[in-house]
Amino acid sequence: MKRILIFILPILIIVTLGFTISGIMQARFTEEKLMDDLMRKARAVGESLELAAKYILVNNDLKAAKRLADSFQKRERLQGCVIYNREGQILAVTEQFSYLNDQERPYLKNILSTKTPRGAIEQFREYSVYSYILPVLDDDGNVLGMVEVIYDTSYMFTTLTELWKKLSTTLIALILLIFLVTLLIQRQIFIMPVRRLTQWFTHFQRGDTDKLRPFAEEKGEFGKLVSEVEQVALSMRVARRTISDQAHVRLQKEELWTEAKLKDLIHAKLGDNSLFVVSNREPYMHVLDESTGKSACIRPASGVVTAIHPILSACGGTWIAHGSGNADRKFVNSKDKLGVPPEDNRYILKRVWLSKEEEQGYYYGFSNEGLWPLCHNTHTRPLFKESDWKMYKEVNRKFADSVLEELPANDPFVFVQDYHFTLLPKMIKEKRPDARIALFWHIPWPTPEAFMICPYQNEILEGMLGADLIGFHVQNHCNNFLDTANRLLESRVDTEKFSVVRNGKETFIRAFPISVDTRSGTGSFKVEPLRQIEHLKKEFELEGKITALGVDRIDYTKGIVEKLLAIDRFLEKYPEYKTKFVFIQLAAPSRTHIKRYHDLISEIDELVEKINWKHREGDWSPVIYLKKHFSQDDIQPYYQLADICIVSSLHDGMNLVAKEYVVQKNDLSGVLILSQFTGASRELTDAIMVNPYSTEEFAESIKLAVEMPKEDRKKRMENMRRVVSENNVYRWAAGIITEMTSLKKIEDKNALPSG
Ligand code: G6P
Repeated sequence: MKRILIFILPILIIVTLGFTISGIMQARFTEEKLMDDLMRKARAVGESLELAAKYILVNNDLKAAKRLADSFQKRERLQGCVIYNREGQILAVTEQFSYLNDQERPYLKNILSTKTPRGAIEQFREYSVYSYILPVLDDDGNVLGMVEVIYDTSYMFTTLTELWKKLSTTLIALILLIFLVTLLIQRQIFIMPVRRLTQWFTHFQRGDTDKLRPFAEEKGEFGKLVSEVEQVALSMRVARRTISDQAHVRLQKEELWTEAKLKDLIHAKLGDNSLFVVSNREPYMHVLDESTGKSACIRPASGVVTAIHPILSACGGTWIAHGSGNADRKFVNSKDKLGVPPEDNRYILKRVWLSKEEEQGYYYGFSNEGLWPLCHNTHTRPLFKESDWKMYKEVNRKFADSVLEELPANDPFVFVQDYHFTLLPKMIKEKRPDARIALFWHIPWPTPEAFMICPYQNEILEGMLGADLIGFHVQNHCNNFLDTANRLLESRVDTEKFSVVRNGKETFIRAFPISVDTRSGTGSFKVEPLRQIEHLKKEFELEGKITALGVDRIDYTKGIVEKLLAIDRFLEKYPEYKTKFVFIQLAAPSRTHIKRYHDLISEIDELVEKINWKHREGDWSPVIYLKKHFSQDDIQPYYQLADICIVSSLHDGMNLVAKEYVVQKNDLSGVLILSQFTGASRELTDAIMVNPYSTEEFAESIKLAVEMPKEDRKKRMENMRRVVSENNVYRWAAGIITEMTSLKKIEDKNALPSG
């Protein structure tokens, strides 16, 4: 609109000015003409009155004068007349002007002496009139008296007002017309081609060749532009193909899964189609620091983020997630997207906005008070509220729409993360049956008996089975899922193919143990310089002490309380380690609006306080509790300085802290104490396994770790590092993509026409 105004305003000013000047001239001309008419009329009537008055004045017949004055009134615009004697006194006057007797009119004397008629606009009381005075002469030219005719002039004003009204109406109509015509021209010249160009880009982005064709056939400048852009696109596509061919060759050569190898695999398998990842938690959050007023970009503490970020960094693509940072809106473009990492844009993050009510019902409510405890065996009662479920469905729909908006025309690959989006695969599949959808479940899957208590079990299972592939961390979770589908749904479970068939649609269930980025010194996890480690040792007085470390979100599934109880017991049983042993717990507050989490924070605070008070000796306290958000880079020196890392989850899909610790121990010095209830315990068999519920056993494990001989530590750490580097996150992603594309091949073969 602003642009239109800038364009139109000069035209409007010129038109209005021209119109006003011509209006003024027309009004002036009309006024002159009216005046001229009036004067002529007044003169004619005055002269006819003169003749009659001459006789009356000669005979000084006052009665006749009165009759004459009365007869010259209210004729057309003639208002009245006056007859004067030779002294300029009124002899007779029309009734309505009788007040003229008292009015001083010095020019009367002048008319008598000069014997010259006078016509002028006069103000008689509140009326504006035209008065024409004519001397009456006898045959010898002597003055007998005067006659005056008085005309109404108000009609002139009315006529001029009418004229101005007409002119203004025409001007307004003209302005509107100009406005309308300009809008139409603007639309035709600017908006339509830009709209066409936008449509072209949208189809082009999606690779919708059918819809692109009519554009290329267009003539004129637009057609030329489209054809130029197509040439550029073609060169890019050819370049990508070449990369993809080279990728095939390299894939066969390299053994260990690396960022480059995964990149090659994606080029080779997905070709032009990029990856679309959906998760609740975003990889980068912009948060406003209230105290400084500055926004910071942080990486949230989340296993999903830790695993998916290196993949998208390597391969590009789009990550669609909830924009939950309070400054997030400030950093997106008009499509709610931004390039991340902020300093080196490797992939696109699209933020989906949720209202407080949506976040409450979908995230805090159904996902984290319902599904989270349902899937973790931690004896926390799941809460299922109808209103939360409603919101969960609505938010799943919102994300589905947001994903659908982005998908290219053919065979897109959508990779959905976790329990927040059980309904998403079906919602996407309904609209885009050609989309390849994988759902990865980052938390455990419970037994059918446990899952059965969920009132929305059928909808959830059906929603998930919209996916072509569902991944879990370990085989046990796959088995639980197959059992659940078998028992709770009308479906066919194929135990040989590990798939569920429902309504003619097959979903494959596979275990893909997730992992971390094992690169050292590059990428997201850097080897920190010794300086930072030395700094921490000084700050917390760790020099010469055995340091154990815990890194967790404050979540009841992580067994933080159990870990603290074990440390307490360890120091009770083995007091010789007092002043020699320190435990650092890095704890990121999480889901704090949920009462269970809120209460846990206080419970841990109190327990830390109690243990430190109980065992304190001089300046030494056994537990250093650091409750805040830590970035990946912040955690790294802690991993490196820690002699022992304790992972005590009561139930955990995988637990990437265990793997991150192993990756960071380049010097093979550390010991990992690992809960047997984590997915990681299946792979990291050289860790010291614990049942975190058994405080005695746990305390003994700490003693074992503290006293483990150097050689033994080294051997175990070496083994664990080998396992993690062989099964790194690139291998995990490669496994899923390979599985997805091989499924495609089977289906494509099946789809061949039988004839
Ligand atoms: C688990 C879930 C993730 C989640 C993470 C952090 O790892 O599987 O989906 O992102 O916890 O939880 P939050 O609720 O803070 O995202």
